[in-house]
Amino acid sequence: MKKCVLITGASKGIGLALSKLFLENNYKVIGTCRSGRVDQISHPDFTAIELDVTCFESIERAATVHLKEHKIDILINNAGVGLDLNTRKPEKESFKQTFDVNVTGTVFFTEAVIDSLNKQAKIVNVSSHMGSVDGCKSSDSVAYRMSKSALNMYTKILSNRLKGKATVASIHPGWVRTTITEGNVAMASLSPETSARNIYEFITSEFETGIFWNTTTQSRLNW
Ligand SMILES: NC(=O)c1ccc[n+]([C@@H]2O[C@H](COP(=O)([O-])OP(=O)(O)OC[C@H]3O[C@@H](n4cnc5c(N)ncnc54)[C@H](OP(=O)(O)O)[C@@H]3O)[C@@H](O)[C@H]2O)c1
Repeated sequence: MKKCVLITGASKGIGLALSKLFLENNYKVIGTCRSGRVDQISHPDFTAIELDVTCFESIERAATVHLKEHKIDILINNAGVGLDLNTRKPEKESFKQTFDVNVTGTVFFTEAVIDSLNKQAKIVNVSSHMGSVDGCKSSDSVAYRMSKSALNMYTKILSNRLKGKATVASIHPGWVRTTITEGNVAMASLSPETSARNIYEFITSEFETGIFWNTTTQSRLNW
């Protein structure tokens, strides 16, 4: 039977490239985004579902209606925003929205689907090296950096809780040409396809639970 991977934020960027790659490798893919439509993918093993992680009703509907019949082998929490990337001071609205998506939404979506995970499932949180407390030498992007540090803590907590039942990791996908921020499109070093291949290599390996992994160098990152 084909394994099933659930990918949040599948409408564009890294999530879209990952969805295509898992389909090419014979997985069933469930991809989420706010519209519930991923027009770039037409494949019998692909299902698009509507999910706004900032809305608890949307999370509840996704988990209890759309995902009810599915058993998930791999959950990739990829949906994320970088509203204050490259800015220097925190600003209330973008700070709140960043945490609503990258932290609160990701945590509560994960909690809602944990019962739908197969035995020995993998949960991969798409973090960023910018969330490394140890590696931080800059003073920009306060909400984004803090949100990814918080997500990393959730990875650690979840890996402790699910020990023996699921393998959990945070990853850095590299600097990828996506629309997460304007500067990325011109300057970033990796295409979404290359980043997706690196992430795929990690996810399909027998990785240790509770780690923070740089998928561009295939080596551990310090928390
Ligand atoms: N690009 C990079 O260089 C880079 C580096 C490090 C980490 N990352 C991380 O990689 C992940 C993917 O980023 P990306 O660069 O591929 O960004 P992207 O192209 O902007 O894609 C972001 C995805 O998140 C979804 N999303 C945004 N808000 C959402 C919400 N409220 N509810 C549900 N889904 C939502 C979007 O779907 P809709 O808008 O269609 O709903 C979209 O599919 C993020 O977690 C990001 O922090 C990226």
